[in-house]
Amino acid sequence: MNEIFFKLPKAFLEKLQILYPNHYQQVLNTFLIKKQTTFRVNYLKIDLPGLKKKMLAEGLRFHELAFPKGAFIVKGPLKALQRTSVYQNGSVYVQNVSSMLPVTMLSPQNGEKILDLCASPGAKTTQIAHLAPQAEIVAFEKEHVRHCKLEANLKIQGVSNVKTFAQDGFWARKKFPEYFDKILVDAPCSAEGLFDLNNPRSYKYWNERKVRELSHKQKSLLHSAFFALKEGGELVYSTCTFSPEENEGVIEWFVEKFKGQLEIVPIEFPLNNVFCGITKWRGKHFANNLKLTRRVIPNEFMEAFFVAKLKKTSA
Ligand SMILES: C[S@@+](CC[C@H](N)C(=O)[O-])C[C@H]1O[C@@H](n2cnc3c(N)ncnc32)[C@H](O)[C@@H]1O
Repeated sequence: MNEIFFKLPKAFLEKLQILYPNHYQQVLNTFLIKKQTTFRVNYLKIDLPGLKKKMLAEGLRFHELAFPKGAFIVKGPLKALQRTSVYQNGSVYVQNVSSMLPVTMLSPQNGEKILDLCASPGAKTTQIAHLAPQAEIVAFEKEHVRHCKLEANLKIQGVSNVKTFAQDGFWARKKFPEYFDKILVDAPCSAEGLFDLNNPRSYKYWNERKVRELSHKQKSLLHSAFFALKEGGELVYSTCTFSPEENEGVIEWFVEKFKGQLEIVPIEFPLNNVFCGITKWRGKHFANNLKLTRRVIPNEFMEAFFVAKLKKTSA
């Protein structure tokens, strides 16, 4: 193995090797490369045929993905996209394709009440609003500066159906008891999927204690989300990290905590780098239905992600 990979924390490398014995080197290589830029259409400003026509007319080289619908890879540097009018007027949003997946599973519809519990900078809040401009969307973001960034992004993207709160998501259950049809919990996480060997800051603060702390935080956010969700409502949980303690482990805790009131909903992504959730980790067995969750393995244009969908079957 190239010694550059030994710059990553030893405990993380060990974890990755156990997790992905057959894809270990492939995953490691993605920490070294610069990922291709991807973006999606903003339906509030333009339709798909109109967007493609404009991009071609402005000489942008791009590849349209079959899934998710409305997503593209820039063939060339980000600068090429930034020069186009569609970028400058907010008709497109630069977002990693993996980060688009949770909202495709949330499947937002006009008329629904939707909560985005951990919202900034707003990639997914805007995605929800672009797909469902007549939905009633509420977004929480705890950090003041990040809340400002969220507000700015909503404005640039022409979104007007989102009410934001610069507050801890904990308050969602108090302010909106059993209110929402759908909730997205795109949780704060150890962001192992964003490790970049060209940027030591992305990995040098990682340690197992942080992973454990984050898993507590994720559970407390899900706890709040449960009480803000209507009976029959759906919740999507996602992270951009590999650690099972923040993924399957958190979902198992959630389903156990509200036993008989929550079920994991099967999800499928038509992509060849998506695998089932794991059911065994370091001597511990997760329930068999954790297989219904999904793990995205990173590649040249997708980051690592974890996605789970749940339904509140009774209040
Ligand atoms: C993974 S990021 C969300 C990314 C965002 N969903 C997007 O797609 O653009 C997690 C966000 O949750 C915020 N956060 C952390 N703890 C929170 C809490 N208790 N309540 C609300 N937001 C929180 C963080 O400040 C961070 O902005």
